Amino acid sequence: MRTAIVTGAGSGIGRAVAARFAAEGMAVLCADLNDAAAQVVADDLSAAGHHVRAIRTDITDEASVADMAAFAMDWTGRIDTCIANAGAMIEGDILSLSLDDWNHALMVNATGAFLTARAVLPHLVMQAGTLVFTASTVGLLGMKGVAAYSAAKGAVVALTRQLAADFAARGVRVNAVAPGAVRTPLSESQFRARAADEAEFQALLAQVIGRYPIARWGTPQEIAEVVLFLATERSAWMTGQIIPVDGGLLQLR
Ligand SMILES: NC(=O)c1ccc[n+]([C@@H]2O[C@H](COP(=O)([O-])OP(=O)(O)OC[C@H]3O[C@@H](n4cnc5c(N)ncnc54)[C@H](O)[C@@H]3O)[C@@H](O)[C@H]2O)c1
Repeated sequence: MRTAIVTGAGSGIGRAVAARFAAEGMAVLCADLNDAAAQVVADDLSAAGHHVRAIRTDITDEASVADMAAFAMDWTGRIDTCIANAGAMIEGDILSLSLDDWNHALMVNATGAFLTARAVLPHLVMQAGTLVFTASTVGLLGMKGVAAYSAAKGAVVALTRQLAADFAARGVRVNAVAPGAVRTPLSESQFRARAADEAEFQALLAQVIGRYPIARWGTPQEIAEVVLFLATERSAWMTGQIIPVDGGLLQLR
């Protein structure tokens, strides 16, 4: 059975990706630091008749991602696609960020992507599989107040192209999706942290969305559709691509 690993599957975009892939008939391993959240997703999807498991995984821990890959291999004997999606927002401009903040942002968003890729690529080679990263529009353009997160997502963009170049001849395609503002716990907490009260929060949301040609939030499901496209043979002649899914922000602003 075609098998997908989705990191960060306990919430937001990862959760939507897990559901979409399960609906496509794949076995899905939901990997998340928040094992309770991943288990809820796996239980919900299993109850609907899909083949889904959950595993606690810390993508910043080499042994943990090795366990994740080993679990998938024990379960179905193959890994066809991995969606390296887990990430975390760390706010701050360069003068307000501590070195710890910087290291944390790079560790979760960039090193975590690197460790995930390194754990699954030997198995993806066996299936001529695919690897899809969740980058961000913030890794492609400047945005106020997210210096470390932006640098880390820039690293994910570069890693996508590099791995695509290194693995094309071995049959593995590597692409990334670069979402704009998607309504998830991550984006919600980002804007709540900046606002003193509910009115300020709502004003901030309106201000952010006002910059988008398609003036609304993206949904996790809209990102999941593009991830599915990049992960399957529908995109068979694409590799090394960073695909913005952003309501037109990058091209039309
Ligand atoms: N929401 C947005 O607007 C947006 C925009 C662009 C990019 N992204 C990216 O999309 C991805 C998913 O974001 P989301 O909005 O769904 O966030 P979310 O906070 O809803 O979900 C992220 C999940 O990742 C998990 N996670 C965090 N650290 C982890 C670790 N070390 N190991 C394993 N799992 C870990 C969390 O437990 C959580 O379940 C992230 O990489 C994020 O940077 C989000």
